[in-house]
Formats: sequence, structure tokens, C-alpha cells
Amino acid sequence: METEAPMRLTIRRPDDWHVHLRDGAMLNAVAPYTARQFARAIVMPNLVPPVTTAEAAAAYRERIIAATGADFEPLMTCYLADDAAPDELARGHAEGVWVAAKLYPAHATTNSAHGVTDVRNIYPALEAMQRIGMPLLVHGEVTDPEVDIFDREAVFIERTMTGLVRDFAELKIVFEHITTAEAAQFVADAGPLVGATITPQHLHINRNAIFAGGINPHAYCLPVAKREQHRLAIRAAAVSGSPKFFLGTDSAPHAIDRKEAACGCAGIFNAPYALESYVAVFEEEGALDRFEAFASENGPRFYGLPFNEGTVTLEQTAVQVPERIGDVVPFHAGETLRWSLVG
Ligand code: NCD
Ligand code: ZN
Repeated sequence: METEAPMRLTIRRPDDWHVHLRDGAMLNAVAPYTARQFARAIVMPNLVPPVTTAEAAAAYRERIIAATGADFEPLMTCYLADDAAPDELARGHAEGVWVAAKLYPAHATTNSAHGVTDVRNIYPALEAMQRIGMPLLVHGEVTDPEVDIFDREAVFIERTMTGLVRDFAELKIVFEHITTAEAAQFVADAGPLVGATITPQHLHINRNAIFAGGINPHAYCLPVAKREQHRLAIRAAAVSGSPKFFLGTDSAPHAIDRKEAACGCAGIFNAPYALESYVAVFEEEGALDRFEAFASENGPRFYGLPFNEGTVTLEQTAVQVPERIGDVVPFHAGETLRWSLVG
């Protein structure tokens, strides 16, 4: 009997332009999953305490490489606080420690208590970053408790993002983990120095997932998933072929007891099957030919970094996602995905 070989897709080795690798035992448990899928990753600095000095970032980078092996390159980011020092940013960037800096509005998300209370406070830092070509990565949600949680991204565009892009026309800005039609449109309409990352969860789920059959903390992340119309807009942006949109998982593991709790943490752990998750979307959208640009080219081009050498291959063979990985519940837990990473 003749059996047809499963369809394969080989692409240049991809990168993850937004990931939380944590520290300590969690770092050792999760970082190898990211390193198996990606050559490089932009590592978020929201540790406790946050990574605000070049020394702390360099030490964190060493701990990551110890967990992954030297075949993986962590790209470090500086956590911007109200008192972010322009000289420190420039020094860390010149020394090759910082690749970018992250703006968390204070109290917007996990470990953001030391974030920025008013974006005007960091204008000197942003001027330095603009001068030296260091990208600004933005968690784009307002923290005003009066604003409905599902509107916080769209309101952030009006209240903050528009002004930032106007006042820093030469600054590279990444609108991280976009979740709304408004954000996709804003990025598409902005100049070439404004890009966006897109997560697998925001391509797959809408806000119903958080409440399907009872409250489901494993579908809860920030920015929170929105209505179906927004999911469709994000999908359209991801597969559009525009170089402004690129892969950023926002993989954000929390131990199961921190998720399944009265005040459960925000974050979805998607690193183990990230490529399998994304490629399903590109297949469903009839855009497999655009997957490589999204996963492996648009990010390095935006950041001004070289493309990776080598390739990865995905095969159309089903894979069952486990219910648990260590003490973390992964994205797609218990589901069967159509593609597997085979090499
Ligand atoms: C992130 C985390 O847990 O660190 N959580 C999340 O829901 N994405 C923080 C963040 O990126 O907002
Ligand atoms: Zn994040």
C-alpha cells in the first residue's frame, strides 16, 4: 500500500520577539521550550525586582544561557521606570546588553508596579533611545480603572500611543501583543518605524474562551482577549504580508496554583507548541506562504538584526498537547494540533 508522506513546511529559523522566561526554577523549566523553537528571543524584564540595570540584565542573560545552552540567544530588555536614566540606557545599549527597552504603564500587568506613571517622565530616556536607535516596546493598555478592561488598548492609542509616535518620529516602537482592530489599524497606518507583535492566543481565542463552561483562568492573559471581530482583525494583520507584524508569543508561565486561584495571574504559557499553534492559523487563512516572513524575517528586519542561519521544519502530523507541563498548564492543553515541529 502506498502512503503519502505528510506535507512539510521548512522555514528559516524563527525568533520570538516577546517572551517571559522568568527566573530560578521556572526559568530552568520553561526556557528550553523557547530555545527548541526559536533561535533568539526578546526577553521581558518584569522579574521581581525588575531588570533596570545593565549589570542585572547581563547576569540574567547568563542564567538564561545556562538554562538553554549556547545555541539560543537571549535579547535583553530594560524595564523603564519613571526615573529611567538616559545615560544608563545608552551605556547598556553600547555595551551590547540591551537590545530594547520596555514601557509598562504602572500596574498594567504582572510585576508592573515599578512601571511608568506618566509617559512624560521618560521623555529624556526616549530621546536617548531615539538617538541611538534603540527600540521602545510598549505594553499598550491604560491603567485607568474607570476604563472598561476590554477598551484599555483602544483608549491607550488615543491617550498615549498617538502622542508618542508624534513626539518621537524617529523612534522604533513596537506595539506589543496587539489584540484589537484599532491597534492593527493604527500600526498599519503608522510609518515604517512602528511595528507590532502578535501572540498565538490572540489569533486563536476570543473572550468567550475565558468563560466557556465556567471561568477558565488558563485563557486569561493581558491584554485580555477581545470580541471575535478583533480576533479576525488580528488574524488578517498577521497573514497580511505586511512587514510591520511579527511573531511574539508573550509566553507567560505561572504555576497552576497561581492561575487556579481566587485572584489568578494573567499569562498564557504557549512556548512548547508556539510554532504549531501559529502555523495552524496561517494554514486556515490560506497563507502558509507568508508564515516565514511573519516568523523569521519581519522581526529581524524591524530590529535591524541579521536573519538566522539554519531552518526548522513543521510537518502535518497531529500532536496532542499535554494537560500539564511541569506545574504549568500550557496553551491548547488537551487539544490536538495539526502540525508538529520535527526538526
Ligand atoms: C505577563 C506576565 O505574566 O508576566 N502576563 C500576561 O498576561 N501577558 C505580563 C504581560 O506581558 O502583560
Ligand atoms: Zn508580555
